Amino acid sequence: MKFNTNYSNISDSYLFSTIAKKVAAYQAACPDKKVLRLGIGDVTLPLAPAVISALHSAVDEMAAKETFRGYGPEQGYGFLKDAVAGYYAERGADVKGDEIFISDGAKSDLGNILDLFDACNTVLVPDPVYPVYVDTNVMAGRKIAYMNATSQNNFLPMPDYSVDADIIYLCSPNNPTGAAYSKAQLKEWVDYAAAKGAVILYDAAYECFITDDSLARSIFQIEGARSCAIEFCSFSKMAGFTGTRCGWTVVPEELACGGLSANKMWLRRQTTKFNGVPYIVQRGAAAVFTPEGRAQIAENIGYYRQNAKLIADGLKELGIWFTGGENSPYVWLKCPGGMGSWQFFDYLLENAQVVGTPGAGFGVNGEGFFRLTAFGSREVTAEAVERIKRLLSK
Ligand code: MLT
Repeated sequence: MKFNTNYSNISDSYLFSTIAKKVAAYQAACPDKKVLRLGIGDVTLPLAPAVISALHSAVDEMAAKETFRGYGPEQGYGFLKDAVAGYYAERGADVKGDEIFISDGAKSDLGNILDLFDACNTVLVPDPVYPVYVDTNVMAGRKIAYMNATSQNNFLPMPDYSVDADIIYLCSPNNPTGAAYSKAQLKEWVDYAAAKGAVILYDAAYECFITDDSLARSIFQIEGARSCAIEFCSFSKMAGFTGTRCGWTVVPEELACGGLSANKMWLRRQTTKFNGVPYIVQRGAAAVFTPEGRAQIAENIGYYRQNAKLIADGLKELGIWFTGGENSPYVWLKCPGGMGSWQFFDYLLENAQVVGTPGAGFGVNGEGFFRLTAFGSREVTAEAVERIKRLLSK
């Protein structure tokens, strides 16, 4: 046998595993210190009551012979796909039920979708970037080209027609920078992809944080996207499903190449390799779209937005440059005193016991930057901001 040697081209440990290990080592050495975590973008509020009640009812259905369910449709139950289609229709995006594939989350699908594409395709990713886009392509041995996302372009790189690409990753609102594309900017990307015969893999996992109407909530709000884009979305950040696991991917019928339909290929892939999301979880997810569910998750998202504002206000007081935090749960700041990202990570952990994510972990252009998440509890967020203020105003 031979292993896939592409694995020797990725770092030994996934970014968030490295951080978790570093924090665990610190905590073991200093057990009396209270560490505050604003590192990984993991939610802290419990599931909404409407979701909990739907989960309970679904559990009861599984307990009775008449309502028990075994294997479900691999691409998701109709009741959930219809609810997701309704969510798109509200914002003027035409997405049909058969184009929606329910999954256990955006991260899995972002990796799995690569089964559809030849290894010789060139991938274009922004730098800094969510490490999953890069690592999954390195694992498959694909060539990766980077586009600079810097403060000069507000961390929103735009198409460069002198660069050829086949698979383009866009994440908006962006992880890690919090920057979000306007509909007009996204139209430029759709035109570029169409001109190059490329596909845009659009990660919309944070769309629910957008309040500004000029910003895109879905790439399918953009004319022409149906023939050149696939969208990934998730209940994780929208409704606190990071531990419950549910998301969806939209593969439009128009997306085709060389006589092959991406939608049919993805259906074939999913039916072969995936047995679907548990019925119970899908019932919980569907409750997110009921009027009660919508009101309850809006309240939770509002809570995280307030956290983002707390962080942003603290940084403003300290005169620290940052972006994000509006239309996004991430605040992306310049490390003070010219510190490097990992240097600032250690400094903050050792002196304030606050954990963030080093920008350098997201790419070369992330060096000298640092990410804080608004997904912590209010208490932890407020205390972390106070500790940072105390430390950095010395
Ligand atoms: C992050 O912190 O970047 C997120 O938790 C990533 C993810 O959702 O997988």
